[in-house]
Amino acid sequence: MADLTTKYLGLTLNNPIIVASSGLTDSVEKIKELERNGAGAVVLKSLFEEQILREAEYRRKKAEQNGMMYAEFSETFDYIDLHIKEKELNHYLELISKAKKEVMIPVIASVNCVTAHEWTTFAKDLEKAGADALELNIFIMPFNLDKDCHEVDKMYYEILEKVKKEINIPVAVKVSQYFSNLGFVIKTLAEKGADGVVLFNRFASPDIDIESVKVTHANIYSTPEEVHNSLRWIGILGKRVNCDLVASNGVHDGETVIKLILAGASAVQVASAIYKNGPEYILEMKKTLDSWMDKKGLLYIDQFKGKLSQEKSENPEIFERIQFMKYFSEIK
Ligand SMILES: Cc1cc2nc3c(=O)[nH]c(=O)nc-3n(C[C@H](O)[C@H](O)[C@H](O)COP(=O)(O)O)c2cc1C
Repeated sequence: MADLTTKYLGLTLNNPIIVASSGLTDSVEKIKELERNGAGAVVLKSLFEEQILREAEYRRKKAEQNGMMYAEFSETFDYIDLHIKEKELNHYLELISKAKKEVMIPVIASVNCVTAHEWTTFAKDLEKAGADALELNIFIMPFNLDKDCHEVDKMYYEILEKVKKEINIPVAVKVSQYFSNLGFVIKTLAEKGADGVVLFNRFASPDIDIESVKVTHANIYSTPEEVHNSLRWIGILGKRVNCDLVASNGVHDGETVIKLILAGASAVQVASAIYKNGPEYILEMKKTLDSWMDKKGLLYIDQFKGKLSQEKSENPEIFERIQFMKYFSEIK
């Protein structure tokens, strides 16, 4: 049996399959079940920046509590709403500390954010609660036609730098594919202290129902075909940037895990495949990886990690444009 241990964000994972941030990781019971079924680590469901900011607002209002007695009704309702939000944050911190007591695998906290506002100080609470690392799901959809791409890129750097100042645990950034120069942005994130980058975030996409003639949501779950963009970018960047790269979006089987590690991934994140097949499916994915390593006479992950990155591959052009010219001209 091969040794599936891998390093991600300086943490030791007993295997490279991480359960991605989602409803799959929102309770201690679910996390324990994921560990029993072989997960190498879990990323908790994201807290939203807005939730954290509301908590800050609640604290401010609490300081003015005497005045609250004479407040307008609307403010009282606001207060109740904020109180509920505070409970959500405490619940999240409790989830981290309880999970840390109950499981051995790394527990990575996650915040879904769009600015570097005061919410970043809350990162300290996540660290204190025992999170092994923090994943920033920076969720900026660049649809502002008055903002140029450098301004958008800068928002990513500012969030990362502010969070890095607050905490000592490793920080990963989960990015989308929407950049003018994705490679440059990921390289810069690594230079500015990102310990890892998760490629890619999957935005909820719109669809149109032509019967009701209404805009609806496209499928919330990924398909296996979606993984190729992660494979391309991990292959191109793996040996060129100074941080770990993790694949997300379209990892649906053990074979894909092998491919992504060959391209240079330190680990992979999986959500849709577990929603579809249940936590036991992690064991199957692990088995596929293990059997393949045995068949190829490989003892450790590092023996083949990045072996087919663009730099090392015999066909580096497959990652780039020239191959597409050939590919399309061959199809008559
Ligand atoms: C039901 C559901 C909930 C999710 N919630 C979060 C979340 O809270 N934070 C986050 O960063 N990603 C969230 N995601 C995205 C996943 O972490 C992952 O990036 C995405 O599903 C692509 O991976 P997959 O192909 O393995 O599903 C969610 C995905 C699903 C399906």
